[in-house]
Amino acid sequence: MSVLIIYDSVFGNTEKIARAIGTAFGPQEAVEILKVSDVRPEQLAGLKILIVGSPTRQFRPTTAMTNFLNSLPGNSLKGVRVAAFDTRLTTSKIEGTPILAFFVKIFGYAARPIAARLEKKGGALILPPEGFFVEDTEGPLQEGELERAAIWAAQMIKK
Ligand SMILES: Cc1cc2nc3c(=O)[nH]c(=O)nc-3n(C[C@H](O)[C@H](O)[C@H](O)COP(=O)(O)O)c2cc1C
Repeated sequence: MSVLIIYDSVFGNTEKIARAIGTAFGPQEAVEILKVSDVRPEQLAGLKILIVGSPTRQFRPTTAMTNFLNSLPGNSLKGVRVAAFDTRLTTSKIEGTPILAFFVKIFGYAARPIAARLEKKGGALILPPEGFFVEDTEGPLQEGELERAAIWAAQMIKK
């Protein structure tokens, strides 16, 4: 296997983004898409690219995703090219709740801490962390986000 996409998802939106990212890779790449709760440690062996995504929950990845990333042995991602994404509320939705907007400015979204953990475990970040928008807590994804996810992922192939 050469490309592994690991996601967490409560309402299904982040899973849809993960699957859209998977479509960016051609048939010559062995792409596997796994929910974080289904990942076994041996599935991380021999990876070329690891892409990790989570919904933003209280400015962070889900607890399951954070625990998974923290559980990876130090340097286990050495030689692996990594990228991180999240799903998050649209800016207009966040700005509609001033207290949320205030905390978002301070604490941000899930993709950045995911990327930091991947790097901490030895991964080489190939793209800046990216966020994809949901219109409300349970979705739907904003129009065009699946296409944007595939375009985002396609940049990894060129690099
Ligand atoms: C408890 C909870 C906390 C959330 N916190 C944030 C947040 O801090 N920032 C944000 O943009 N969206 C937040 N959201 C919205 C989620 O990002 C949204 O539900 C998620 O992107 C949907 O993805 P999923 O369908 O894969 O679960 C929160 C939602 C819930 C239920």
